[in-house]
Amino acid sequence: MAERTLAILKPDCVRKNLTGAVISHIEKAGFRILGMKKIRLTKAAAGGFYAVHKGRPFYDGLVEFMCSGPCVPIALEKENAVADFRKLIGATDPKEAADGTIRKLYADNKGENIVHGSDSPENGAIEIAYFFPARELADLGQG
Ligand code: RTP
Ligand code: MG
Repeated sequence: MAERTLAILKPDCVRKNLTGAVISHIEKAGFRILGMKKIRLTKAAAGGFYAVHKGRPFYDGLVEFMCSGPCVPIALEKENAVADFRKLIGATDPKEAADGTIRKLYADNKGENIVHGSDSPENGAIEIAYFFPARELADLGQG
């Protein structure tokens, strides 16, 4: 059974004109794109998405950054999608990310790190539902 994960190409990715480059990495790694759109998050939407981090020192800056311009949420499917996507993007801090990973290649710093990836299959499903109503993803799994 294919697993699903949510990617978000963050506002720095869009500002740097890197959406195509990053999507190319994602497709070359074998992920199927189920849904994709360009949106601008409100403060409430960004705060709700990262609610798990509420109260941490970087939370306000993170919410501010995620609202600072358009971003591109992408619903992805693949066997072992969550772990494989986290491997593809690399560590949160690009200084610690492995060579060849998306964050190592393109991210400036830990706060502005180009891309989000879900951290568990359960959260992948919750996060996809946060951006994509089920009817937008129906029957798209097989390409
Ligand atoms: P994400 O959720 O965006 O995929 O990132 P992640 O799992 O690798 O990292 P997480 O701990 O969930 O943190 C969420 C985002 O908050 C920003 N952050 N900044 N300055 C800091 O110390 C710091 N720590 C986290 C990053 O943008 C990180 O991706
Ligand atoms: Mg996270």
